[in-house]
Amino acid sequence: MEQTLVLVKPDGVQRGLVGEIVTRLERRGLKLLGMKFMQVSRELASTHYEAHVGKPFYEGLVSYITSSPIVAMVWEGKDAIQIVRTTMGATNAATAAPGTIRGDFAVEIGRNLVHGSDGVESAAREVSLFFKADELVNWSRETDRWIRE
Ligand code: RTP
Ligand code: MG
Repeated sequence: MEQTLVLVKPDGVQRGLVGEIVTRLERRGLKLLGMKFMQVSRELASTHYEAHVGKPFYEGLVSYITSSPIVAMVWEGKDAIQIVRTTMGATNAATAAPGTIRGDFAVEIGRNLVHGSDGVESAAREVSLFFKADELVNWSRETDRWIRE
């Protein structure tokens, strides 16, 4: 089963969209394994975004993610990485499809509300960066048989 890291970025928290974003992932059928409200340090931000070092938007991105608290979550499910990314919509919110989180609530790439891991390796790396093993809850959900055949 795949796990993926989702962040409600500072704009999502400041704009009161945490509940909306959690609701959309819950309704889609993903299962929550862990959640924390936290301030991202510059150190954590630079590790999390190390693939973007040297890009023109890097400094702005680190400032953005450290500017105000975030909500970090781990969601689980078959194909969870792809399902989160299709629920979030395109990175550039200006072109994100209506019906997606970014397409419904955001207008530009630099304030795009959410983060979702982009592959199996980055998901494993990012989950362990934000959560200790004992902060993830292993639980069985009664509705799973109505979500997957
Ligand atoms: P995320 O990592 O946040 O889930 O988004 P993503 O995979 O769709 O986008 P990625 O390429 O990993 O970029 C990470 C974040 O950097 C900001 N960004 N700004 N101004 C720009 O050209 C630009 N490009 C990327 C966005 O906040 C993006 O989510
Ligand atoms: Mg990314």
